[in-house]
Amino acid sequence: MNVAIVFDSHSGTTARAARAMAQAFTNNGHSCFVAPVHDAIPEEIAQAQLICLGSWTQGLLLFGQHPTQATMSFVERLGDLAGKQAVVFCTYKIATGSTLPQMASALEQRGAQVKGHFKFRGPQPTGDFRAFVKGLPA
Ligand SMILES: Cc1cc2nc3c(=O)[nH]c(=O)nc-3n(C[C@H](O)[C@H](O)[C@H](O)COP(=O)(O)O)c2cc1C
Repeated sequence: MNVAIVFDSHSGTTARAARAMAQAFTNNGHSCFVAPVHDAIPEEIAQAQLICLGSWTQGLLLFGQHPTQATMSFVERLGDLAGKQAVVFCTYKIATGSTLPQMASALEQRGAQVKGHFKFRGPQPTGDFRAFVKGLPA
């Protein structure tokens, strides 16, 4: 499967998670392209069969959590995503609130089917993400 990972990272954690996710995809036979939201070209990302969108969690730690503006602005620049699969992921310290649902909803509004929601408390993808990758058809 052709996978694109786009992420927003303030201090590097989400970038490291994105790179570790890419390694998991390639280890399982998929091709994977990784780019920060500030550099990613929407037309290129929209060509992937599976689009993974990642943000760090921004908020007041226990409430008011949301994805970053840069993450949501990138989704607005993506065109029609009908027929595309998507994954949303975020890194966080305490609680993610509506971070992942907001990202999933924005992608779904463009027609993507969101197949996974993953949150990582640090740069390492969790076991549920690794199980998801193992279950993907090549
Ligand atoms: C301004 C600011 C607000 C944050 N708000 C939250 C929050 O509401 N909930 C939470 O769990 N983590 C919060 N965090 C922690 C980050 O989401 C977490 O450290 C994340 O992994 C940082 O990713 P990055 O290194 O890619 O920027 C906040 C961090 C910052 C700098």
